[in-house]
Amino acid sequence: MPQRRPMWIMRQAGRYLPEYRELRSKAGSFLDLCYNPAMAAEVTLQPLRRFDFDAAILFSDILVVPHAMGLSLAFKEGEGPVLETVKDIHDVERLDLRGEQFKRVFETVGLVKRDLLPHQTLIGFCGAPWTVASYMIEGGSSKRKTALAIAIKNPAWFSLMMAKLVAASTTYLLGQISAGAEVVQIFDSWAGDVPLAHLERLVINPIAAIVRGVRAVHTNYPVIVFARGLGRGHAGVARATAANCAGLEEDVAIGSVLADLPAGIAVQGNLHNELLLGNVDELLGHTREVLNAVPMERHIFNLGHGILPQTEIRMVERLVKEVRAFD
Ligand code: CP3
Repeated sequence: MPQRRPMWIMRQAGRYLPEYRELRSKAGSFLDLCYNPAMAAEVTLQPLRRFDFDAAILFSDILVVPHAMGLSLAFKEGEGPVLETVKDIHDVERLDLRGEQFKRVFETVGLVKRDLLPHQTLIGFCGAPWTVASYMIEGGSSKRKTALAIAIKNPAWFSLMMAKLVAASTTYLLGQISAGAEVVQIFDSWAGDVPLAHLERLVINPIAAIVRGVRAVHTNYPVIVFARGLGRGHAGVARATAANCAGLEEDVAIGSVLADLPAGIAVQGNLHNELLLGNVDELLGHTREVLNAVPMERHIFNLGHGILPQTEIRMVERLVKEVRAFD
């Protein structure tokens, strides 16, 4: 039984925090910040100094994996990521995990771990193969139509790329775990784009393979699977991937998903991130709805997606206070 309902917020280290913006401008680019262990560790810890959260999530990005596999990567101001694209079998064959980038991320994990308080959990993460593959095909955050068309046609090079992503992501998570991560979250941010007929091949199997790879080394290691956009499909995916916890987007009834899950599996989520931009009464009303829908021992309170950069600090403070006062 947890002492209290655990709580953290996706993208909790980020632009809504003035101390983040300050360090980020000192670091240079977003990637420079990700690959500077001292600065990345500091940014990871910033939200925990300000708010009474129960977990720190490693400050990094899901695109570090394709970057470490040899694809060039930049983050353009106001535009998001720009990743070198993969177009054919030759591009896929060239993908090769060099690992130099990983080492710096693992160093960050070690630094964060050293500074956390005993009740604070360190979360590591990676992107799920489908989401990362979408970026590798599209080159950025655009529409993902090309990625889906290629995935459905399923040329040999796409399957090989997915297999390479499973292997690299497993290595990436195992390194984070060795460095001190106590739970990992697998982000499948674009799972909701996948037609049901392809869900097993594109979403479930690759995630399940990563989970197996992690647990082959660390038996029963806890994993949160955030397959964003699956609605009622979350329970099935959590079961099929052997997740310990299903991360839920907003706009899904968290209590119904919980009801579809065996007792050993928890849910995470799923307050709408835009409620933090509106009025306090509405924020607190919806927060209590989420809290009422699931018991403390099977819930990790979170948003349904990352906190927005324009969020005011006072709204986060109010939210934390409400969650703490509830149980
Ligand atoms: O606090 C945390 O949650 C930990 C750090 C974290 C980041 N990205 C930092 C980040 C995590 C867990 C991620 C995951 C990530 N990255 C995902 C999956 C989660 C999701 O949001 O669905 C995805 C799809 C990415 C790829 C990515 N990174 C995009 C599309 C963008 C641009 C959009 C944006 O918000 O600007 C990023 C940039 C990014 N990653 C920022 C941060 C704090 C903003 C960069 C900045 O400081 O300018």
